[in-house]
This record gives sequence, C-alpha cells and structure tokens, in this order.
Amino acid sequence: MKNLVSIFGGHDANVSFYHTDKNKYYSIEIERLVQKRYFRLHVDNDAASQFRILNECQKIAEERWGIKNDYEAVLICSDGFVEIDPTQVFNTEKVTTVARHHQTHASAAFYMSPFKEALIVSYDGGGDDGHFNVYSGNSEGITLLDDITSDFGGGYLLCGSLVREVAEKSRHQLALAGKLMGLCGYGKPIEKHVPAFHEFFFDRDYRKLAFLTKLPFKNIDNPWKNPLDNWIFEGQEAYDIAATAQEGFERAFFSVLNRYDTDIPLILTGGCALNVLVNEKVKEVYNRPLYVPPNPHDGSLSLGHLFLYKKPDHQVDITYAGLPLTDYDELETYIDKYSATKVNKRDIAQLLKDGKILGLVYGDSEVGPRALGNRSIVCDPNIADMKDILNSKVKFREWYRPFAPFCKKEDAHKYFDSPNFENLEYMSYAPRVKVDTLPSITHVDGTARLQTVTEDSHKEFYELLTEFGKISDTNVLLNTSFNIRGYPILSSIKDALYALNNTQMDYVVIDDYLFEK
Ligand SMILES: [Fe+2]
Repeated sequence: MKNLVSIFGGHDANVSFYHTDKNKYYSIEIERLVQKRYFRLHVDNDAASQFRILNECQKIAEERWGIKNDYEAVLICSDGFVEIDPTQVFNTEKVTTVARHHQTHASAAFYMSPFKEALIVSYDGGGDDGHFNVYSGNSEGITLLDDITSDFGGGYLLCGSLVREVAEKSRHQLALAGKLMGLCGYGKPIEKHVPAFHEFFFDRDYRKLAFLTKLPFKNIDNPWKNPLDNWIFEGQEAYDIAATAQEGFERAFFSVLNRYDTDIPLILTGGCALNVLVNEKVKEVYNRPLYVPPNPHDGSLSLGHLFLYKKPDHQVDITYAGLPLTDYDELETYIDKYSATKVNKRDIAQLLKDGKILGLVYGDSEVGPRALGNRSIVCDPNIADMKDILNSKVKFREWYRPFAPFCKKEDAHKYFDSPNFENLEYMSYAPRVKVDTLPSITHVDGTARLQTVTEDSHKEFYELLTEFGKISDTNVLLNTSFNIRGYPILSSIKDALYALNNTQMDYVVIDDYLFEK
C-alpha cells in the first residue's frame, strides 16, 4: 500500500499523513503554518494560496517525516472541501470521501484512545451529519447510535456573545466559547434562568431564550450576523449570565448522557469536549474510564478520516506529531548569532526558581489548541503574583482567564483533587486545587486545568520537574502557550526569538540551547 494524505479545509483546517512503511501518522494544523487562528483553507484564499499551502505541507511531510509524494489516495472531508484539484499537489489517481463530520470526529478520538470498546459522544457547533452524535466504537468500527437535535457549540458561542468582556476581547467568533468558560467561574448561576438556557442548547432559539428569561437581548432577528456585537451584559450581571449558561449546558449534556449504559468506557470529542468543566463533572458523576483527545476540535478531522479509510492496527499517539519548526535548518545560524549556550534541566529549573519566564521549544508541535510542552511558556507558580507578572510582561491575557499547571502524574494527588488522574496529559479537565500556595494557577472557582506528565508522555517536562522538585517544596510549574500576541502557537525559531525580543520574557530554550535577548 502507498501512503495516504487527508485534508480538512474548514475552520481549524488540517492535513494528515499516513506513512505506510513506518505505520505512523502525522498532522499539520494549517493555522500554525500560516499563523492565522482558526484558518480556513477552502474560503478566504485564492487558488494560488491553496496550492502554495498544500505544497508546503507536502514539502514538510517529505523532508521531515520521509513521506514520499506517492499516495494511494487523497481523502477530502465531506464538509471541509478544497476548491482546487488536490492531485495537482499530491500524486495519486484517487480522490475520495468516505465519511462525514461527526463520524470523523468519533473515529479520530476512538483510535487515539486506549479503549477497544467505547461509547463515543461527538458534539460541537455542527457538521454535515448533525451536532451531537452518539456512537459505539468497537472492533467492527464506529456505529451511529443517535443523532440528538441540538446545537451545544453554537448555543454556547452565542451565550459568550452576550458578555461584554468576552465579546470585546474576541477577534473571532470561535474565540467566544473558551473565554466564556474562563469567565463563568466569577459568577453564580441564576437558577430561574437555568431551565431556559438548558432548552436553548437543544433548540438554539435565541428569540425564545430572550422571551423566557425576559432578558434584553439585541440583534434578536439575526444574532449570527456579527456575534461580537451581541453583548448586553457586563460586570457581575454578565458573570452570572456566564455561569448560568455553563450550568444550563451541563444539565443539558447530562440529560442526554444519562440515557446511556454507563458500563463501557466513554469518549468525549467535538469542539464542546474542550469544555473542561463538563469533562471534570463527567469524571465525577460516572465511575467509568473516560478519554478526551488532545485535539477534539475540528483540527483532528483529517486524521479521523484517515482512520476510517484504513483502520489503525494500534493505538495512535498523535500528540507530538504536529508541525515541525519551519526554519529548523537555520538553528545553527541562530545559535551562532545569539551565542546560545547548552543548558541542562537543572539549569532551567534554577532559572524558573529565580523567577525567570522561559519559552521552551522541543521537537515537532503538539496537536490541538493547548500547548503541552513543545511550544510552551513556563514559569514558577509558587512565586506570589506570578499570574500578574506573566500577564504584564509576556502574555497580556484577559484578567479572568486562568493559567494551567503541570506536575508529575505521581505527584498530582498531593496538590489536586480528582476522582482519578487518568487522561490528564492534555489539559482536558479541571480538578480542584488542594493547596493554597499556588494562586497563579488556581482559578477563582478553585480548579486548575492540570496537565500531568510522565516520562512517556513528555520526557523534557518530566526531567525538568525532577530537577525542580529538588529545589522547590511544591513541584508544580505553570505552562501557557508560546505564541506572539494575537497569533496561534508559534512554529518557527524566528517567531520564538521575536517573542523573546519583543516581550519581557527572560529566555528561550530551543533543543537545549539557551537564547538570551
Ligand atoms: Fe466539529
């Protein structure tokens, strides 16, 4: 069999590759390559740009991963099409589509999970086969059980659009949901409105929500025209609306999930599986194995399509098989230019202990929206006010958004409270923080979006924690995404050093080389 390549052209566009000889998978999220968040390939770009981007993906795949331009087929997702003829980029005689949106989500998550059999929920703002689909996954493949009429993703986005501090800080409507989730910790659910919000996630009837709650919504006839203009709430009232939306979301979610058998493992995917508050509650409510992949959003669709075309014969770990540094071959030149010196993990741990803020870059990128150690900014959350220092010097984030901690998996129980510490490698849950010495990573609701680390999951972070633990009583560090302000997670040495020189970040480490300003 020859190699396979798969393209999803919708928002969070991505291209995945299967190297047949190595039996390995790789995935490029195009937003990282072009440095535009939520990038869509199939619109907003002329044909020349689409050719250029796909040619660039093939060049990277060939040079970095040894994937020859000789394919059995190129797969095109059914609702993430491309407007150009892909055979002009990828050498193949076959262009095909074998599955639709949520089936593809379900497949991506199932074959990344450790389970042989699972109930799979895929829910988001919609695809060409529904909004909230429930599947069974087993040795036979993926089978649709139910297609629930709803729009949890679109509904949650619209709830975010009601809040000034969310809408005004979002450059793109797809940024609304994540910000709303951060803000809702500051509010309390307004109980009398919760049932109306609960219903809203099923019918997404904006006018009806306004009528039932008697809240003064604007743009009532077309809230989708410009969601960033819908906001009407601010201050504490807005935080309470945010909390009410989250509460309604959770109750709506469990009203569906409670219908299913709870004996077999559960997988959550689709963009809504980025809601760490729901994920944590699922862990608390159901005593069953649970898996959320690192990339439940549309960034995993091309990969899921590959799995449906050719079923994997092993559990696929794609976590750190993303876009390589695009200028990696210039590393030596940069080392010379900056007189960069080699450092070990003990040196890095000491710099962190001294209060320094470091950008760390290792290997190929992590997949998914969260930095998981290969493109991360790291500092010591044991230092008082570290959140404010990080925000004022480097990140400039909204005040209400929390920063995430990471610690060794075997240490997690010392600092965090959770029914178990499985599947925490991707920041997909929000366990409670048990200690009061880590305010920089403790959200206002007492939770943290923890990433646990093992030697297998992230060797560099594990070694760093081993050294940091020798000089710190609390062996927890802070991890946030390494990007240039307003841009996606960065993908070049050039951008990493631009960030070093244009913020008050102290150092950048690339492949064990320490770069100073
Ligand atoms: Fe999706």
